[in-house]
Amino acid sequence: MSDIIASLPRIPDETRQELIKIFNNSSKLDLKARVFATDITSAVELVAPIINSVLGEDNWTVSGGNFFESEVGYRIHADTGKDNFEQLLQTFVFPLSYELTDAAQLEKNRLIILKQRWHNPAAFFMQGSQAEPNEYNDVVKDYKDVIGYEPGKIDHTLMALCPHLPVTNLLGFTVDKTMLWEPGVPMTFPRDRIHASSAFHKFGIKKKLGLSIFTSRLSQ
Ligand SMILES: [Fe+2]
Repeated sequence: MSDIIASLPRIPDETRQELIKIFNNSSKLDLKARVFATDITSAVELVAPIINSVLGEDNWTVSGGNFFESEVGYRIHADTGKDNFEQLLQTFVFPLSYELTDAAQLEKNRLIILKQRWHNPAAFFMQGSQAEPNEYNDVVKDYKDVIGYEPGKIDHTLMALCPHLPVTNLLGFTVDKTMLWEPGVPMTFPRDRIHASSAFHKFGIKKKLGLSIFTSRLSQ
């Protein structure tokens, strides 16, 4: 079973604290406004029952993921890994904590799942941008291979949630669903779905810590 876009039941607070502890004790990759930790083995053990509750047992494997601590909104991207795109299952995001200003607009702290899909290596979608970030993700500026791309279309929900991104990046993408990014409340969506965070920093969320887990079908 896959192709679900949903928030999941809140995890126990001790599980959330335990995941934070795992991150704190991990070795980290520091990209200034974003810090990653990529050893998620013990975290996966802890949350496997939650993944089982969505995907069932013994039919999935973890093919990537990371803890992320970020002070900046994410670009539009896809977490499709580098190969075996036909095996992609679901992404699971576990929001763990955030730091707020007094003016935080929590209802705008959202994960945005687009209608469009991507069956190519993990990428940032940066139509019309000059920047060429040299990271794990490829940089896609021509959206012709985006499945469901709607050239020229402006989605006003997407524009309102993403003032951190150039409008040219957003053109042709349309919102399927947005989910509240709330510590302790996991979310899941298909790995081939293109997605972004809202401009949470502009909405008074100074920093957030979460865990992403990418699942794939276990080849029989
Ligand atoms: Fe992602």
